Amino acid sequence: MKAWQATPPFGLSALRLIDLPRPTPGPQQMLIKVHAAALNYRDLEMASGTYQGQPQHAFTLLSDGAGEVVEVGAAVTRVKPGERVIGCFWQGWEGGRLGDNAGALPLGGPLDGMLSEYVLLDERGVVPCPAHLSWEEAATLPCAALTAWQALVTEGQIKAGDWVLLQGTGGVSLFALQFALLHGARVIVSSSQDDKLQRLQALGATGLINYRSTPDWHEQVMAITDGHGVDHVLEVGGPRSFVQSLLSLRPSGQINVIGYLGGQQGEINPLLILQRNARVRGIAVGPRQSFESMNRAIEANGLRPLLDSVHDWLDLPAALAHLQSGRHFGKVVLRITAD
Ligand SMILES: NC(=O)c1ccc[n+]([C@@H]2O[C@H](COP(=O)([O-])OP(=O)(O)OC[C@H]3O[C@@H](n4cnc5c(N)ncnc54)[C@H](OP(=O)(O)O)[C@@H]3O)[C@@H](O)[C@H]2O)c1
Repeated sequence: MKAWQATPPFGLSALRLIDLPRPTPGPQQMLIKVHAAALNYRDLEMASGTYQGQPQHAFTLLSDGAGEVVEVGAAVTRVKPGERVIGCFWQGWEGGRLGDNAGALPLGGPLDGMLSEYVLLDERGVVPCPAHLSWEEAATLPCAALTAWQALVTEGQIKAGDWVLLQGTGGVSLFALQFALLHGARVIVSSSQDDKLQRLQALGATGLINYRSTPDWHEQVMAITDGHGVDHVLEVGGPRSFVQSLLSLRPSGQINVIGYLGGQQGEINPLLILQRNARVRGIAVGPRQSFESMNRAIEANGLRPLLDSVHDWLDLPAALAHLQSGRHFGKVVLRITAD
């Protein structure tokens, strides 16, 4: 079988489409024929060799993918051959707090990921595909969607009427927009590109801010919310943006620290957190139980992920370059066609 791997010393020119023996499931494992996989910002870092805590060994890329179970081990009870499943980002985090699940590891580095014709996963490391979703749509859910769900719903307990602030139009932000609207919340989204802001308006965003042309965007957030501030922020910008998020927050509002697209270095005055009684937490995707809750909501509401483009998986380098360009709006997906 073929698989795309990142290999030391890493870098986009060191990606290899290699031949590997097709694996056989152990007692609690299943063999999955992968039909589609989806890209996240993290995969770009993993492929480039710039990820914080980059594995030093060769590994199969991508945390996100969906496929059909073709073989199961003798002790497997949770899945059957023929079922459609999605791999969980975290293998070994089923519920509760991440810190209490010693040994939990993500797919797509350090564990071998989903960009392979076949993958072996533990029966506790998958969820069923929502029935109405295509392979390409289902493949987008493990990382970006679950991160948004974990922040707003599992941890954030979002309520109708809450204000939500989203930064940029990456995968996490677009899923968060859909989930926030599903809960009757009001959403402010920023983008560097005006054409994307128009598309966000059509999707139901209430407040639109161009963070390039409005560098002090927190002032606009306060104006849009009549001086009250927002209840939830999904923070992907980094330290400077974090300070602006604090200045955009209503008293006792929540900031979910998710990414650092604008850089990692900067100063934060803790007094701002204290004065606003802010609740600040890190989010690291989420456990399988949260994934299952999210999929119930996706299925019950017929929600469909927003796809930017679907590429043949042999065109991985072009798909990564497209993600890197920042032109995408929606998920960038790879269709996997086995020999
Ligand atoms: N902690 C977690 O569990 C977790 C999970 C998933 C992702 N992440 C992190 O979240 C971030 C987004 O990931 P993704 O997969 O959603 O990204 P993505 O799909 O690659 O989207 C990137 C988008 O972010 C926006 N952006 C770029 N620089 C920005 C800045 N300085 N401030 C605000 N927005 C900016 C741009 O949107 P516009 O073109 O609209 O300007 C860009 O298109 C990354 O840092 C990633 O590592 C963390």
